[in-house]
Amino acid sequence: MPSTNEIRSTFLNYFAKHDHQIVPSSSLVPQNDPTLLFTNAGMVQFKNVFTGQEHRSYSKATTAQKVVRAGGKHNDLDNVGYTARHHTFFEMMGNFSFGDYFKEKAIEFAWNLITQDFALPKEKLLVTVYGDDEEAATLWKKIAGFSDRSIIKINSSDNFWRMGDVGPCGPCSEIFYDHGQDVFGGPPGSKDEDGDRFVEIWNLVFMQFFEDSTGTRNPLPKPSIDTGMGLERIAAILQGKRDNFDIDTFQSLIHASAEVTHTDAYGKHKVSHRVVADHLRSASFLIADGILPSKDGRGYVLRRIMRRAMRHLHMMGTKEPTFYKLLPALIQEMGQAYPELVQAEALISETLKSEEERFKTMLDRGLSILGEETSLLPQHGKLSGDIAFKLYDTYGFPLDLTADALREKGLSVDQVGFDKAMAEQRARARTSWVGSGDSATEAIWFEYKDQFGTSEFLGHKSERTDAKVLAILIDNKIVHEAKTGTPVALILNQTPFYGESGGQVGDKGVIRNQEVLVTIQNTQKKLGDLIVHYGIVEKGTIRTGQSVTCEINHDYRHAIKTHHSATHLLHQALRNQLGDHVTQKGSLNSAERLRFDFSHTKPLTKEELLSVEKEVNRQIRENLPISTRIMSPEEAVKMNAMALFGEKYGEEVRVVSMGKDENTIQPRAWSIELCGGTHAQRTGDIGLFHIISETGVAAGIRRIEAVSGLATEQLLKENESNLAQITSALNTSPAQLMERVNQVLEERKTLKQEISKLQHQLAMGNEVNADVEKIGAIEIITRNLGEIPPKDLKSIAEELVKKLKYGVVVVFSSFGGKASFVVATTANINQNINAIDLVKIASEAVGGKGGGGRTDMAQAGGPNPQNYQAAFDAIKNKLNSLSSTL
Ligand code: ALA
Repeated sequence: MPSTNEIRSTFLNYFAKHDHQIVPSSSLVPQNDPTLLFTNAGMVQFKNVFTGQEHRSYSKATTAQKVVRAGGKHNDLDNVGYTARHHTFFEMMGNFSFGDYFKEKAIEFAWNLITQDFALPKEKLLVTVYGDDEEAATLWKKIAGFSDRSIIKINSSDNFWRMGDVGPCGPCSEIFYDHGQDVFGGPPGSKDEDGDRFVEIWNLVFMQFFEDSTGTRNPLPKPSIDTGMGLERIAAILQGKRDNFDIDTFQSLIHASAEVTHTDAYGKHKVSHRVVADHLRSASFLIADGILPSKDGRGYVLRRIMRRAMRHLHMMGTKEPTFYKLLPALIQEMGQAYPELVQAEALISETLKSEEERFKTMLDRGLSILGEETSLLPQHGKLSGDIAFKLYDTYGFPLDLTADALREKGLSVDQVGFDKAMAEQRARARTSWVGSGDSATEAIWFEYKDQFGTSEFLGHKSERTDAKVLAILIDNKIVHEAKTGTPVALILNQTPFYGESGGQVGDKGVIRNQEVLVTIQNTQKKLGDLIVHYGIVEKGTIRTGQSVTCEINHDYRHAIKTHHSATHLLHQALRNQLGDHVTQKGSLNSAERLRFDFSHTKPLTKEELLSVEKEVNRQIRENLPISTRIMSPEEAVKMNAMALFGEKYGEEVRVVSMGKDENTIQPRAWSIELCGGTHAQRTGDIGLFHIISETGVAAGIRRIEAVSGLATEQLLKENESNLAQITSALNTSPAQLMERVNQVLEERKTLKQEISKLQHQLAMGNEVNADVEKIGAIEIITRNLGEIPPKDLKSIAEELVKKLKYGVVVVFSSFGGKASFVVATTANINQNINAIDLVKIASEAVGGKGGGGRTDMAQAGGPNPQNYQAAFDAIKNKLNSLSSTL
């Protein structure tokens, strides 16, 4: 009896033998389709190859694809555990032709594999074809030798495959296996088709069209093939089982579940074991693909799956977290085929464990409320929406968990009442929101958030994702389209763009498709989780509903995230250096630099700064991975994670840890901090950390500005180029620069002294009496001393006046654009001749006001040095008029 793993290999090898490329399964998070919650078929990763947008080096491929059908369009969650073939996670094996072979070859490949390699008897098989697809019917007759009785024509959408509302599609032909008369059920198309007798094992899709959002089908460039065979179904048949849960893989998981819960695998807990086994697979694979439990989006689907399983484990009497204990059994079964499970083992295990720890604290109380409420309900009654909402809101019971619990008792939930309670809570949140205070603007965002929901942020994992345009805003108002050149704000269903928050600036990048290009200059977060992209339409017309590819500017984000990680290290280094009173008071992480404000009363000394810088760089060089985990605020507190005082945290928080603490016996990260931002992968990515400045911003708050990574490199380059310019200007080498500077400063000092001496000499003149004029009996010297400091004028005037027997000296200088005069008189001068009066006359001539000093020595100035000659003349005139009266 072949194992499931062997069956998978047989399938892939069969197609490899027929020149198909074996392509690994793609992620459960679709990388190229914004309309899908999870990868729901093997063809999803090839969507763009079918449409001709993308080319591969092969035209035939085969895969075993991880598929999740929970939440969104294909949702099997409610039924899992109760039926033979519903799963939230399964493997879909397929073969694909991208414009290579078509119907005939596809049918031939399928027929030969199932009848030869899998050795299924022909009489146990029958097929369907779509409506009037005579070609397919004829081919089946030719290849399989079927009579009309074994070819059932189905004209409904059951036999026409679509990936989603938009995408490649085409008519199918399905292959069914008949489990035999003793199993209830009818052939496809009959009223009993839902029974277990006839089981669809393989769907061959003849891909021919692309359906757009208006429902129009356009032919694909070339007819292609997409097929899907559920591995679990074929394994059941080949292992002689009628129920997928009886195959080897599930049995191992079911036995592991029975063992850890100390219960019987097939007794009254049979459904619970199946739920646990199925949900263990989906939860583990989703976590391995980067999804973590959260309150909305994909993360919430994961949480619903996990909590549903956890309630079943709880019902089997487990007191401690148990779900994670089953992971080794899953890895044993599937780790070889899916190495990502092995790689992510620690993360999966811890995520399952902490989610169960968190949920367990509420589960008992929630279940007892549920028990009390349901005991009051009549047969087939409905639980009130208010109670279901209370269980959801206060006890963390996803609605489908409550529904699952009620189902066992034949009860259900009042969904309308639940939705109403949820809407009321939203309205309450709106009235109690304390935001920036700009209520008019915020009212708009509340409206948009209600209308479009929260935006799923995928940027922790991806820098490029596809998305759907939910809304286009121009000046905050909704429009349906925007043309080239228009500044717009875009709301998308999901995005890799980080919206500015927590001190980290928003991303830049491009949003585009084949017709449209929008450059995004800024991304903002509104009301906590609505992400708004601001940009300009550069090309084409963007329309609501369009599918777009969003790509952030990698270098810009990289620089931002390394600054953000450096900020965490800086925070810890400051606490180590200065004490635990250091707490964050504000921060900014941009591409150019980081700014960190913190509580501390005095400036940091040079030594403290150096030591902080050194410590941060030491952690960077350790180059250890930076890890992010989701936990409850209580757990984060237990770990001593740094949080912002006064900040309100939700049910769970992201905790970012980095570095290595050498001082603890237990291995512990050096910095552990609550943070929603994006971070480098390893501390080494931060590059060199360098503090630029330390200043005070308010009483008791200091600010450090610093750079890391490329910004440090740029700073170094600038400094280097400045240094090169200086050394070249001083005609020296960097090594001798200081010596040279000291020498230049010394020379400068000597020169200044020399200049002062020379100016003095110059002022005195060589021939002392050369410029002595006579006005009557009065001798006068007027001298322009050029650009010498005003403070030197007095001593010069003093010297000059000594040369005169009876007279006046007027000296002038222009310094720094201003005129200065000093007037000195000989001691014996007539008392009508007053230095203060004379200097005032000079001052007026150069636009000044007055002056001062003694009667024999006075000083004044003015703004117009160019008029100095007029000043001299005015003094001379005055002396002239006075001389006649003496
Ligand atoms: N894409 C097809 C399916 O999922 C094969 O059934």
